[in-house]
Amino acid sequence: MRLRHLTLKGFRNFKEIEFDFDLKTPLVVFVGPNGQGKTNLLEAIFLCGLSKSFRTSDFSDLIGFDDEFCRLEIETESEDSFRNNSLRLEFIATRVPPKKTLKLNGVIKNAMDFIGNLPVVFFSPDDMTNLRDAPRFRRRYLDVMMSQLDRHYLQILLEYDHALRHRNALLKRIRDQKSDKNELDFWDAKLADLAKKIIAEREKSVQQLVAITVRHYQIIAQKDDALIMKYKRFVRPDDYLKQLEAERDRDIATGHTHSGPHRDDLSFLCNDHDMKEFASRGEWRSLVLALKFAEMELMRKVLKTTPLLLLDDVFSELDHLRQQYLFEGLEGVQTFVTTTHVEFLEGLDFKKTIYRINEGRGEI
Ligand SMILES: Nc1ncnc2c1ncn2[C@@H]1O[C@H](COP(=O)(O)OP(=O)(O)O)[C@@H](O)[C@H]1O
Ligand SMILES: [Mg+2]
Repeated sequence: MRLRHLTLKGFRNFKEIEFDFDLKTPLVVFVGPNGQGKTNLLEAIFLCGLSKSFRTSDFSDLIGFDDEFCRLEIETESEDSFRNNSLRLEFIATRVPPKKTLKLNGVIKNAMDFIGNLPVVFFSPDDMTNLRDAPRFRRRYLDVMMSQLDRHYLQILLEYDHALRHRNALLKRIRDQKSDKNELDFWDAKLADLAKKIIAEREKSVQQLVAITVRHYQIIAQKDDALIMKYKRFVRPDDYLKQLEAERDRDIATGHTHSGPHRDDLSFLCNDHDMKEFASRGEWRSLVLALKFAEMELMRKVLKTTPLLLLDDVFSELDHLRQQYLFEGLEGVQTFVTTTHVEFLEGLDFKKTIYRINEGRGEI
């Protein structure tokens, strides 16, 4: 998959800008001092892939301060038979009424039919800390990848999320004596059914990821330590319904659902030690880079197309060796890189197009 054209209008600090990318030069670099809009450009590409931002859940943040709406448009070209040869994806957000519209080849689509048409892998220095610090980022790592791999998984995930929000609202109403406990039966059964599917799918994906991650980790970290990666679930799918019923009183008291796949996690063990606790900074960086490579590789294998790679300012986080490894593995992958100093990329023997980004304007 390659991005041929990108238009931004009223998006963050870009009034209006267009890019035509040379498909023969898959490495695209956005260079400029801080605060010029480099990350905004990666965010725009990510939005056309996933319909959501990696840094805000409020889409009105995306609209330029002085603008009423923003519009992103992407044209793709695929190097293989993935979906169509060429796709046009649009993301439009308006301030009044607050509304988000997604289009594929000019036709309005819901998120489920939109996501997956432009497979992307995003990597930023925040991944280094986030993946170490919080289970929700480790779940997100899995969910973002799996949603792009399988529309059916995305659908189940959205339904689960919907059911969970309903159940939590109901718990609060029961607590305030505005609803009856029996009403939970419906949502408990629904959650239990969806949870089974989510857990099964996640277990399958993690199983596929393990071998790939371990291989990359051993090369990047230059170690042959036994790395074990596991999907950690806190409920047994077959017992989940009973557990929900048993925990009702506690859930009602707090107004939220304590157990379920929305609490699950990933664990990484190296020689039996939890890497989140014990890995050195260098070892952890190697692991995160290995996870990103595994994400790329699995998507490539399953989708039979190459995802776009978005690298936000990662050079300051990676030493020369890891940079070298990163770029050597990118044969044929269209990669968008942001950096404050183009010198970071010197010594890398790749043909690249460099755009200088300056206060929401860009030139080659
Ligand atoms: N909705 C918005 N409207 C206008 N400007 C915005 C908006 N959101 C962010 N910005 C501006 O975008 C700039 C940050 O862009 P960013 O892509 O993060 O910079 P960097 O080049 O450091 O990656 C800041 O100047 C910020 O004020
Ligand atoms: Mg930035």
